[in-house]
Amino acid sequence: MARKFFVGGNFKMNGTISSIKEIVENLNKAQLDSSVEVVVSPPALYLLLVREHLRKEIGVAAQNVFNKPNGAFTGEISASQLTDSNIDWVILGHSERRTILNESDETVASKTKYATDNGVSVIWCCGESLEQRESGSTLSVIAGQLAALKAELSDWSKIVIAYEPIWAIGTGKVATTEQAQEVHASIRKWLKDNVSDKVADETRILYGGSVSEKNCTELSKQPDIDGFLVGGASLKPAFVDIINCKL
Ligand code: G3P
Repeated sequence: MARKFFVGGNFKMNGTISSIKEIVENLNKAQLDSSVEVVVSPPALYLLLVREHLRKEIGVAAQNVFNKPNGAFTGEISASQLTDSNIDWVILGHSERRTILNESDETVASKTKYATDNGVSVIWCCGESLEQRESGSTLSVIAGQLAALKAELSDWSKIVIAYEPIWAIGTGKVATTEQAQEVHASIRKWLKDNVSDKVADETRILYGGSVSEKNCTELSKQPDIDGFLVGGASLKPAFVDIINCKL
């Protein structure tokens, strides 16, 4: 089955009302490859602003969601509040939340399960540190992250996986096409061996880490790279070129 190419823009904790409106206007007037699924992820405060003004065929993702129904959880946002606001996606398991906010594999898996069970699709991130890559444990680290997810999840149809090597995030050091393809192929094999042929065949696996308009075309040609999760470049007009990298 052909997997629809997917490009996500993770704004992280960046932007103002005015700069985010500018990004939205730029996307609204751009000619975008209609065969690509596009989802942008502004900070929580701007989710409604973006959803209200952005063309409807582009999805919007939160950058976090809690794993409990509405209630006394100060500072959190629930899955039902996201769906009530027409926010259909959330990014979970980003390395910045795993490392800076101490989210464990189990917490990420539990949030992912709760979100998907409650109608929110998940861009689920995984990836290794530089130390782990240099010690040769990249594939086992990612297998561990996937195993924690599998322990919770039964329905994989609302999951897009983003492989983001931590050493490539915001550093300008993009993984080589061979490095990225190798990990993507191993994630797909893990899905085949541990979940099912169907899930392995249908799940999109995105690459994230210093993706730019300059390196995206080459990466997009790899058989197991089904799109990108873009950080810094998603705040710039060049994001449109990344979306259109297959044209
Ligand atoms: O989630 C996207 C990301 O972490 C990559 O960021 O700035 O290296 O494209 P960047």
